[in-house]
Amino acid sequence: MSVPAKGRIAFTGPSTEPVLVRQVDETEWVQIGTAGAARCEAPPNEGAALRRYLEGIFEDLPHARYLVLVSDHIAGVLDRPGYLTTVASRPVFALPPSALRAGELPFSYPIATSSRSALLYRFGPTPGLRYVGERDVSYDVLQSRGPIFDPADPTLADALEGRPVFIVVDRRVDAAYGAAMRAYAAQFLDCVGTFRFDALESAKSLHNVEQICKAAYDAGLPRNGVLVGVGGGVTLDQAGLAAALYRRGVRFARVPTTLVAIVDVAVGIKQGVNAHGGKNILGTFYPAYTCINDITFLASLSHAAIASGIAEIIKMAIICDPLLFVMLELDGATMLASSFQQPATATDVIVRAQIAMMDQLQDNLYEENHARFVDLGHTFSPALEKRSGYRLPHGDAVGIDMVLSSAIALELGLCDRILFERLVALLRSVGLPVSHPTLDRELAIAALAGTRTHRGGNLNLVVPRDIGAVTFLSEVDPRTIDAALAEIARLS
Ligand SMILES: NC(=O)c1ccc[n+]([C@@H]2O[C@H](COP(=O)([O-])OP(=O)(O)OC[C@H]3O[C@@H](n4cnc5c(N)ncnc54)[C@H](O)[C@@H]3O)[C@@H](O)[C@H]2O)c1
Repeated sequence: MSVPAKGRIAFTGPSTEPVLVRQVDETEWVQIGTAGAARCEAPPNEGAALRRYLEGIFEDLPHARYLVLVSDHIAGVLDRPGYLTTVASRPVFALPPSALRAGELPFSYPIATSSRSALLYRFGPTPGLRYVGERDVSYDVLQSRGPIFDPADPTLADALEGRPVFIVVDRRVDAAYGAAMRAYAAQFLDCVGTFRFDALESAKSLHNVEQICKAAYDAGLPRNGVLVGVGGGVTLDQAGLAAALYRRGVRFARVPTTLVAIVDVAVGIKQGVNAHGGKNILGTFYPAYTCINDITFLASLSHAAIASGIAEIIKMAIICDPLLFVMLELDGATMLASSFQQPATATDVIVRAQIAMMDQLQDNLYEENHARFVDLGHTFSPALEKRSGYRLPHGDAVGIDMVLSSAIALELGLCDRILFERLVALLRSVGLPVSHPTLDRELAIAALAGTRTHRGGNLNLVVPRDIGAVTFLSEVDPRTIDAALAEIARLS
C-alpha cells in the first residue's frame, strides 16, 4: 500500500496581482516572492509542485523570458549562484533577498544580460511562497510470507536495503523471539545494536525516547541508518518518536507484534508518548518508510490483547466494511481462540481491516481535519480508561464506547435496533464487555465536553447509521444520554 503524493505552491501575500515596478533599459524584470519564499519546503530544483507553479507563471506572462525567485533558502542551495532551473524552455533564477533589500537590481548575475523580461512584485504585509497541502508521503505496509526472522524469508533484509540498523525491541517480545531475531540479524543485517526495554503503557515517556536515542548514538547509528521498532503500539510509538528525533530524523521501520499494532499503529504515520498526565500528549507525524506484518507473532499474545485488536477491527467494519463485520460474526470467536492463526480467513480479516484504515487515513494523514470516522469508539473510552486507573483494557473501553454511541444513534432514530443487537452480540462473542459499572451520565457528559475541546471545538461524535456507514453528531442532548444508558442497562 502506498499513499499518493499531493501538494501545491501558493502565495501567502494578500495580493496575487503582479505589479510592474521598474523598467531598466527597456528590460522588464521579474521578481516573484520575497524573503518569505524561504518557507517553501519543496526542494526547489526537485519539487514537481514548484515546477508546475512556475509553469503557470510563465503562462500568465507570455512575454517574460525568465523568472527570478527571491529566497535565501533557494539561493542558498544552488550549485551555481543565480541559475535555478529551466521551465518551459525559459530559465528561472534565484537570488537572496539581500540583493533586493540593498535596492540594487542584481546586474552582476547572469540574468542581467537577458532582455525583455518583467519585474514583478507582490505587495502585502507578508508576501512570500507557502507550500500547501500534504507532503510527499509514500510508505509500504508489507505482509511477510512466513515468520519474519525465518532465514528463508528475505522480506525484512530486503526492506532494510543493507543500511546500518538499530533495533528497539519490547523485552517480552525479545524473550520469545529474540534468539531468532539475533540469528537473523547476524546473518542478514548490518545491525549496530539492540535496545531492549519494558514496553509499559504506564512508562510510555519522553524519558524512554531519550534512552533509545542515547543507545542509538552510543552504538553509532549513522544518519543513513534505520531504527527498527519490534513490538506493540507502546514500543512502536516510542521507537518512532526516537527515529524522528535522532539526528533530526533517521529512517524508521516497524515490525508490529500485536493485533492493535498491525491493524492500527502500522497503517498510520504518527507516534506519541504520555506526558503531563495525558495520553499521547507529545508526539510527531513521522512516517515509517516500511512496516512488515507477521501474524505469527500473534500466537504468543494474550487473549486480552487480541480482543483489544478485535475491537479496533470491529470499529473499521462498522465505519466502512459490512463484509468484515460478517466475517467476524462468523469466525471472530475462532480467531480469538487461536490468536488469529485460524481459520484461513484470519489473514483476510487483518488485511481488510488495514485497507479500511488506509482508506480512512489517506486523505487526512496529518489529521488537519479533526472530523474523523476512525474516532468511532474513542469519545467515551478515554474517560472510561482514566476512571479505571488504566486497568480497563483499551479494547474493552472502545467496545463499550461503540455500544453507547450506537445506543445514542438508536435513540435518535439514526440506526435500527438490529444494528445495536448485532454489535452487542459480536462484542460478546469475542469476549469484550458491552458496559461497565463506571459508565454513567456524569462520565458520558464530561467525556463529550473533553472531546469537544480535544477536537478543536467541534464534537464530531461518530455514530453508526448502518453496519458500514457512520455519521457525525455535533450535539448530544443529556436526555439522549439518559435514554441510551437506560438501553444499555436493559442488556442482561
Ligand atoms: N501511533 C498510533 O497510530 C497508535 C494507534 C493505536 C494505538 N497506539 C498506541 O499503542 C499502544 C497500545 O498498543 P498495543 O495494544 O500493541 O499494546 P502494547 O504495546 O502495550 O502490547 C500489549 C502487551 O503485549 C505484549 N506483547 C507485544 N507483542 C507481543 C507478542 N507478540 N507476544 C506476547 N506479548 C506481546 C507487550 O509487552 C504488552 O504487555 C497505546 O499506547 C496506544 O496509545 C498508537
